Amino acid sequence: MAFTPDFLDEIRARLPVSDVVGRRVKLKKQGREWAGLSPFNKEKTPSFFVNDQKGFYHCFSSGKHGDIFRFLMETEGVTFPEAVERLAGMAGLEVPKSAPQEIERAQRRASLNDVMDMAAAFFQASLAGRAGTNARAYLDKRGLSQETRTNFRLGYAPSDRTALKSHLAAQNVSVGDMIEAGLLVHGDDVAEPFDRFRDRIMFPIHDVRGRIIAFGGRAMQADAPAKYLNSPETSLFHKGAVLFNHHRARAAVHQTDTVIAVEGYMDVIALAQAGIANVVASLGTALTESQFDILWKMAPEPILCLDGDKAGQRAAHRAIDVALPHLKPGRSLRFAFLPDGQDPDDLVRSSGREAVDMVLSRARPLVEVLWEREIDAQPVDTPERRAALESRLRELVRAISDESVRRHYGNAIAEKLQIFAPPVPVAYQRRGGPRGQGGFSDRRPSRVGHRVEPLRASSSLRQSPQFSGAITKVREAALLIALIRHPRLLDRHAETLSELELTSPELDRLRRVAIDAAAHDEAQSSEMMEGAVARAGLSASLARAEAALTPGLWWAAATADDLDAETGFLHSLALHQKAHALHKELRAAEAALGQDTTEENFSHLVDIQNQLSKVEGTEAAIEGFGAASGRPARSL
Ligand code: UTP
Ligand code: MN
Repeated sequence: MAFTPDFLDEIRARLPVSDVVGRRVKLKKQGREWAGLSPFNKEKTPSFFVNDQKGFYHCFSSGKHGDIFRFLMETEGVTFPEAVERLAGMAGLEVPKSAPQEIERAQRRASLNDVMDMAAAFFQASLAGRAGTNARAYLDKRGLSQETRTNFRLGYAPSDRTALKSHLAAQNVSVGDMIEAGLLVHGDDVAEPFDRFRDRIMFPIHDVRGRIIAFGGRAMQADAPAKYLNSPETSLFHKGAVLFNHHRARAAVHQTDTVIAVEGYMDVIALAQAGIANVVASLGTALTESQFDILWKMAPEPILCLDGDKAGQRAAHRAIDVALPHLKPGRSLRFAFLPDGQDPDDLVRSSGREAVDMVLSRARPLVEVLWEREIDAQPVDTPERRAALESRLRELVRAISDESVRRHYGNAIAEKLQIFAPPVPVAYQRRGGPRGQGGFSDRRPSRVGHRVEPLRASSSLRQSPQFSGAITKVREAALLIALIRHPRLLDRHAETLSELELTSPELDRLRRVAIDAAAHDEAQSSEMMEGAVARAGLSASLARAEAALTPGLWWAAATADDLDAETGFLHSLALHQKAHALHKELRAAEAALGQDTTEENFSHLVDIQNQLSKVEGTEAAIEGFGAASGRPARSL
């Protein structure tokens, strides 16, 4: 009968030695210990001590020493299993029926680990020996140093069908064990089991504690039927729960705080040789949930380093779908895309470590890659298609199980949709109607039309020269003036007005007057509104703001027709929001360029600047606009 160490520890943890001993020996507290008369010898002065912290007793008179199990065996003459059973009962634990099998399985695994280690040593020796001439030449060609070969315990499996089998048999390994370790091909239709790996470069695969649990074998000929052959699933090896190089990368992660996942063994090895050690690889399949769990235990934001081609993109998209439900606050993924057609091994060999560092430093957040995927999935050139995009995104956001991450994703996506969406009228709902929190995942679908997100410039944004620029300011004023001079529109646009962040305190006061007037039914006509403005002592402010309107903003003035005022208002609002979003992008692009002066970052910045100047210089140019106010159509 055997028990797992864990089970014995559990009993020890529950039963202080003084409890067990105290049933037989009268104990008195003495400092940190307990003292009593020896149960083994007759004595007058106590020489028997119990230490609960250390979990043992010591008898000075007899020299006996032990833990609770020993104590029972010594004092009651029971066997170890009996002692365990009795003490388990005292501790309220049931002796696990499977304990013996568990022990056996653990022993079995340990001996299979030994078999794997022996196999690895054999492959290493073969690589170094006569049979390994071609294999050595192959590794030379691939630029792997001697040190790297030793570190990764690279080896060579000879072409002979029984090279490994005979070697292990000579060391008393049974064929059964070799089969269980996945080293032999066997089966009903195989008369004599034979070596699974033949004429291949061998890559040992380790578990987290650095024990070999499997092998990957690479063919050296380009036309070999399987480029890589991996160990089958065994009791040691569960492919979907293992990452190649996990145990070495784990140590390296402490220095770098991040972990990089690549696709191939050779990528891991080539990067390690170049000094990038915090790298792991999946084993020829897409990353599984358990593999993500491993990655997240290593670092909060693992970087998936993928090909820049379609296949790499597909891999990223698959990874997103697997990872999305498991995101947590602070826990995500980043994606680094390699130049087209190169893997990390190719890149580091052609362009050195700096090139790889460059690629990694440009890793993009999950949310960006997700957004891009959905934008690219279908054209978004009609309202229906844009709605489909929105509903796809909503569906994806819903997959995130963490409430707080889900909410923030909702917000991020809503903001992105804003940039993307063309100018759309605002549907105003009366006070008390459902108000979204800006969180798109929280929004009820009760609104007709498209809800325009509140415009809120961050203080840093407002300080940026462009944002506080003349055009933005005067457009802001125009939006407000249009509603004051055309109060009939207020009913529909009061909410937008209240959410507009105004950069001037004067305009802010005017806005409050307008909103108050609307709330108290004092905005029936422009005369009434003018009265309200006058009562608030703001007539001069209004006049000043009106005088500053540029010709393109004529529609805001009292002289324009209500119809034109509304059209102008909506278009200007859309431009205003677009400019706001572009300013934000501009700041991000400036930061990116500051960090990394690449051609790509530079042209991105220029692109945004161009878009921005277009938006800032454009006011509504629409067919028929202005006719209602008696102006020539399309005049600006
Ligand atoms: P790749 O085909 O990208 O190979 O497979 P690689 O890593 O660049 O290898 P080299 O540079 O040609 O030697 C990536 C990973 O996919 C798995 C292996 O784990 C490999 O490292 N794979 C690939 C297989 O399991 N079987 C295969 O036949 C091919
Ligand atoms: Mn490769």
